[in-house]
Amino acid sequence: MSFLRNNCRLFAVKDPKDLVGFSCGDIDLDEFFANDSFAYANQLLGKTYCYKLKEQPDKVVCAFTLANAGIRVSDLPNARKKKIEADIPHAKTLKDYPAVLIARLGVSSDFKSQNIGSDALKYIKLWFLEPYNKTGCRFVIVDAYNAPTTLSFYQKNGFKPVFSTEQQEMDYRKITNIAELKTRLMFFDLLWMAREGV
Ligand SMILES: CC(C)(COP(=O)(O)OP(=O)(O)OC[C@H]1O[C@@H](n2cnc3c(N)ncnc32)[C@H](O)[C@@H]1OP(=O)(O)O)[C@@H](O)C(=O)NCCC(=O)NCCS
Repeated sequence: MSFLRNNCRLFAVKDPKDLVGFSCGDIDLDEFFANDSFAYANQLLGKTYCYKLKEQPDKVVCAFTLANAGIRVSDLPNARKKKIEADIPHAKTLKDYPAVLIARLGVSSDFKSQNIGSDALKYIKLWFLEPYNKTGCRFVIVDAYNAPTTLSFYQKNGFKPVFSTEQQEMDYRKITNIAELKTRLMFFDLLWMAREGV
């Protein structure tokens, strides 16, 4: 049973008023949704959506921002490349694979741990599969907060880390001046879902 499907409506966020009162408990994300998401949309850099309660239309349950993206494999180390290309025939011919980036995702603090974030991920994935997808999109990617709960949330939803260790990721991103990465790049191959006939 899907809480979002049964109790919420999806909106494209068009006006600062659309997200008034929304807080997912993360200051940076709350600030982005309240102040920056509109500028991103106006600049065509990211499109924000929210689910609101049907019975209380001012109450935002979940918000997320999506942007076109890609996975560049040509400059990935071989083992990482193989991981991404595991299910791609003739992989050698392509340097980049089309992807959609979950640039931001937050669930209202009033609705945490009720499967709403997972549900939102499922709907996002479906948008990029037949019959809804308008282009070609193979992967969903996210720069997930490097915190055990966030990483396990994405893992629970089928995402895999591109890099096995933080050190590999720091080397790849040429980061030398911090002790710990703030985010970890994770991917979901939409073909896994397409094959299940979802
Ligand atoms: C991460 C987030 C989107 C998950 O949404 P959710 O609706 O609570 O997630 P679900 O109910 O589908 O799954 C819950 C799982 O998420 C993980 N989780 C991550 N952050 C959590 C939090 N603050 N509270 C509860 N669970 C959290 C846990 O592993 C939990 O698993 P469990 O229920 O088996 O313990 C939501 O907690 C949130 O908005 N957090 C703050 C913003 C954030 O970190 N966004 C991700 C940026 S990359």
